[in-house]
Amino acid sequence: MAVEKRDRDRRPTPRRKPAPAPAQPREGATIRLRDVATADLPEIIDLDRRLTGEAKPAYWKAGVAPQPDRFFLVAESANGGFAGFAIGEIRAWEFGSPPVGWIFAIQVDPDLRQAGVGTALFDGLCARFRTAGIGLVRTMVNRRDHLILSFFRTQGLTAGPSLELEMELEP
Ligand SMILES: CC(C)(COP(=O)(O)OP(=O)(O)OC[C@H]1O[C@@H](n2cnc3c(N)ncnc32)[C@H](O)[C@@H]1OP(=O)(O)O)[C@@H](O)C(=O)NCCC(=O)NCCS
Repeated sequence: MAVEKRDRDRRPTPRRKPAPAPAQPREGATIRLRDVATADLPEIIDLDRRLTGEAKPAYWKAGVAPQPDRFFLVAESANGGFAGFAIGEIRAWEFGSPPVGWIFAIQVDPDLRQAGVGTALFDGLCARFRTAGIGLVRTMVNRRDHLILSFFRTQGLTAGPSLELEMELEP
């Protein structure tokens, strides 16, 4: 359908909030970020099991191994306890497309939520991407998951240009 000039002119210029500056813990909150260690495996497996209902020890054992262009961060609360984790990867999906920082996973202990841990993890990944020369961050979410949508919207993410399509294959 043709777009009339007057409509084109009225269309707002998309406003993209730039990714936030490096992690700034909220007032009163002490959240420490560090790279994952093998010793974190029990807590990661347990948190993921509590959130997804499935324990995946082999998956996470392989997942904590260092990999190029992948950042696996752990957040610790004030008392040094495990609070959550986030994984980001630098990926270029299509040939010739610029690499992008993908937020691959983010999980915070349900008892420690809404205290800035998720934001600290997100900011930490953005800082790693920025240091690696990446200027765009993306993630994929379930559109019915209002919690994760709220969270990423608060971080400044908006709908990107791609839409995922899928089809079931007969066996
Ligand atoms: C989404 C998640 C990571 C947020 O962690 P968190 O530590 O609570 O996040 P923060 O405290 O930094 O919250 C930042 C913002 O997110 C939004 N948010 C967080 N929890 C929310 C909730 N329950 N309802 C609505 N908005 C929420 C708010 O806008 C909040 O800002 P505010 O506190 O100033 O209002 C956490 O809830 C979680 O682990 N969820 C389940 C795991 C998951 O679905 N992971 C995604 C797939 S891997």
